[in-house]
Amino acid sequence: MAVEVKNNCIFHLQTKNTSYIMAVQYQKYLTHVYWGKKIRLPKVENASLMRWACFDVMEPVPEAEQFPEGKIPDGFIPFSMDYVRQEFPTEQVGDYRMPALEVEFEDGSRCCPLVYDGYNILEGKKGLQGLPSVYVESEEEAQTLELYLRDENRGLKVTLTYCVLEDWDVITRSVRIENLDKETVICRKISSASIDFEDSEFDLIRLPGGWGKERCIERSALHSGAQIIGSRRGASSHQMNPFLALLRRNTTEEQGDVYGLNLVYSGNFHAGVEVEQLGMSRVYMGLGDEDFAWRLQSGEQFTAPEVVMVYSDQGIGGMSRIYHRLYRKRLVRGRYRDDVRPILVNNWEGTYFDFNEEKIVDIAREAAKLGIELMVLDDGWFGTRNDDTTSLGDWFVNKEKLPSGLAGLAERINKECGLAFGLWFEPEMVSVDSELYRKHPDWCIHVPGRDRKECRNQLTLDLSRADVCDYLVETVGGILDSANITYVKWDMNRHMSNLGSALLPPERQREMPHRYMLGLYRVMEEIITAHPNVLFESCSGGGGRFDPGMLYYMPQTWTSDDTDPVERLFIQYGTSLVYPISTMGAHVSAVPNHQSGRVTSLDMRGNVAMSGNFGYELDLTKFTDEEKQEVRSQIEQYKELRTFIQSGDMYRTANPYEGNTAAWVFVSEDRENVFAAYFRILAEVNPPIRRMKFAGLDAGADYRDVKTGQVWHGDELMRVGIVVDLHGDYQSRTWQLKKIVTVQHPHS
Ligand code: DGJ
Repeated sequence: MAVEVKNNCIFHLQTKNTSYIMAVQYQKYLTHVYWGKKIRLPKVENASLMRWACFDVMEPVPEAEQFPEGKIPDGFIPFSMDYVRQEFPTEQVGDYRMPALEVEFEDGSRCCPLVYDGYNILEGKKGLQGLPSVYVESEEEAQTLELYLRDENRGLKVTLTYCVLEDWDVITRSVRIENLDKETVICRKISSASIDFEDSEFDLIRLPGGWGKERCIERSALHSGAQIIGSRRGASSHQMNPFLALLRRNTTEEQGDVYGLNLVYSGNFHAGVEVEQLGMSRVYMGLGDEDFAWRLQSGEQFTAPEVVMVYSDQGIGGMSRIYHRLYRKRLVRGRYRDDVRPILVNNWEGTYFDFNEEKIVDIAREAAKLGIELMVLDDGWFGTRNDDTTSLGDWFVNKEKLPSGLAGLAERINKECGLAFGLWFEPEMVSVDSELYRKHPDWCIHVPGRDRKECRNQLTLDLSRADVCDYLVETVGGILDSANITYVKWDMNRHMSNLGSALLPPERQREMPHRYMLGLYRVMEEIITAHPNVLFESCSGGGGRFDPGMLYYMPQTWTSDDTDPVERLFIQYGTSLVYPISTMGAHVSAVPNHQSGRVTSLDMRGNVAMSGNFGYELDLTKFTDEEKQEVRSQIEQYKELRTFIQSGDMYRTANPYEGNTAAWVFVSEDRENVFAAYFRILAEVNPPIRRMKFAGLDAGADYRDVKTGQVWHGDELMRVGIVVDLHGDYQSRTWQLKKIVTVQHPHS
């Protein structure tokens, strides 16, 4: 049973390898008891895990005055909310740590003590209204525990929802608040998860970055006070991913305790850890609170996004593989959840805005000869867009560039070249120089009477408005229906500023950023539902919105605008901490690399891109015959690899953040197929012995190198490894191995 309840006040959530325990103490307070490796339900009658161990926690809270003759027993600590390991802390109740919920009542007061008010257990897992979330395919896959809290003086009801996905080894959390009072309540902050650990002997991992350098791993020890991460950019952002992990100090890639939290949301978020006076640590994650306030009138409710919580005692790699398996199969949806992803060529770095129909067909023709399956036409096909100053919003084809129109071009790519056709959009944006803006100047996010701050010469459409969302569904949907388009790259190239919506009343202006996300999710849901055969890839100036929220609608994301393979080692390694390989777009681009100026071999570029969702982003017609031959064999190889690397497990075996090398191994679910890649960044003279150490193999089996025929033992590959001798900068080596399956003959 995934949810076990004892004495109506102790809740034990159990996955395959994890326990999460809460208890109602003194008939009132919902407290956190334990999260970690699976244990039996503690004998809590002994209250060994409780702070106030000498009292019966089922009884009302003891007061010092209640003791006979005022004799205070040893070990008595006066009850204080400031010491309690709370499950959902609120404000102004004597707990001075970070609250999970901040509300304001009509009289201006903010004091909101919550008391426990019952529970319910449901089979399966329900979706969250209007929000992305992890799903299950049958009721047997999950059990849901709802815990109810209420404010005794005001009609505020809080529902904490825990979904236990036993076999996936995952617990999700979300929160719903309901105003049952006559008066309006303003929610000023809401975390979807808050967990109080009894100590702070942890390191914190977070994934900060910037444009072209997304999700760089940062690990540091916890210290007193708060370590806060978040985004107030209106997008989950390049600058900080909505993910954090706490690790025991000695935890490595392969072993040790790790606790991961990842928010299924694509907008503003806040998260962090606070270490308090007794050395306890409170970790939390939820909606961003700075550009947020939500009015709940009588009878209204608000649901906060989901946090996916993963514990592993198998180190950082163990945590990653749990996230990967879950996201591949229970977050990503649609046909491409299970289908292999096509190998594509995108014209962006090949031509930028300077293309016409013939050029695109030429690239596609060349691509077809090399085995590529999909031609993606990037920015610049619409309105009068020849640079980034115009036309966003004018989603009609530029006939000067593409005389056959989209339908005609798609047909040529399909029929003349035998490739599928994909198209770039940036639906959430508008250029000031556009017909759409001239017609609807109030459709963008803006503050009346103030300058409309452009970024990349564009403004953000106000998706908190239903009419704008309807327009996008109709326009993007219309284009997808007008031509044989089977792939969409959905870009978004600026962050929000000058927050304001023309339709919201003044007291609701702070609802705009979250209403925008709800609008975006609605638009994407309607478009993907109407176009089930289209593969959608999200993008935001590269990987500026690489989060589980987007992955719920679009199964892959353009990982970064930085296509330099050396830089990509860091970006893809960091991204893989949470997100599976099948979600990461990775392309071979031209040299010198457009972002870094670095020159690397085609082999190195190919090996890095093959460690992701493979494609090319250059003008293939400019390649020499020799280069084309190399591309042809890369593609042939990837077609074999993708059948298992997009659906198998990833083991990281050398960390580029710690040295000059990176390495990883992809292993099919049945451990029969293996692809391993080893990269050395800078040349080393008189180097130490470098070995590729494999992981995740069947130790007792033998594996054959597909290229050379050489046979290795599984344990040998994992324990001894293969010596790698490389010369020069930016070098790589790969191995494709196949398990030798010995057939047992019954009579032999
Ligand atoms: C930003 C994206 O990340 C690029 O790949 C490209 O699509 C450009 N936008 C086009 O403007």
